Amino acid sequence: MMVNCWRVCLVLVLMTVETALSADGSMHSLRGAAVIDGPSVTPLAKEWRDGEGKIQRNYIQQPPLIPHTVEGMSIDQDGNTCLMCHQWNADMPGATKVAVSHFIDRQGRALATISPRRYFCNQCHVPQKKTRPLLGSRFKTAIVD
Ligand code: HEC
Ligand code: HEC
Repeated sequence: MMVNCWRVCLVLVLMTVETALSADGSMHSLRGAAVIDGPSVTPLAKEWRDGEGKIQRNYIQQPPLIPHTVEGMSIDQDGNTCLMCHQWNADMPGATKVAVSHFIDRQGRALATISPRRYFCNQCHVPQKKTRPLLGSRFKTAIVD
């Protein structure tokens, strides 16, 4: 009981110190200087990586990253915009054709249409925005010269 009381006191002291620090301006919240009941600032829209060519893959099984915007494209039961350009027989110069692996079902059978497990392209393929990574990464490419 006594220990708990000390803990509560310590937390209260720390909270007071923290409040003092922020009032002093030496600590910043992610919200910036905006007051809590004021309108929040809309973050700047990040630019899509688009039209700069394909992105090099880092390992053999990597789903290639999407080097263009996917704004306005949809994938649902009525259709798949991606396939308009990437289907094996699409007439879109420069758009890599979907891999043959995308026509194999989970029993290993070859299909004439995209396998259902590959229909939702953005489960594996992701577009890129020009932004700083939220977290660092120590990943190193498996590609050796
Ligand atoms: C209007 C045509 C068009 C549509 C629609 C489209 N793409 Fe693309 N896509 C391209 C073209 C062209 C390229 C090649 C871009 C380049 O070389 O800069 C490309 C490149 C790619 C690549 C990189 C391939 C590689 O070899 O590195 C992937 C992955 C991709 N698209 C996935 C998608 C997905 C997923 C969708 C749907 C959300 C989609 N695309 C919709 C035209 C399209
Ligand atoms: C379950 C994950 C997954 C899904 C879903 C998926 N892909 Fe892929 N895709 C991959 C992987 C992994 C590769 C690279 C290995 C390979 O070629 O199979 C790849 C390769 C590709 C390539 C490059 C092919 C080449 O010859 O270099 C294109 C283009 C592509 N996918 C487009 C699509 C489109 C369009 C869709 C949706 C209709 C889609 N993918 C759905 C995982 C996926």
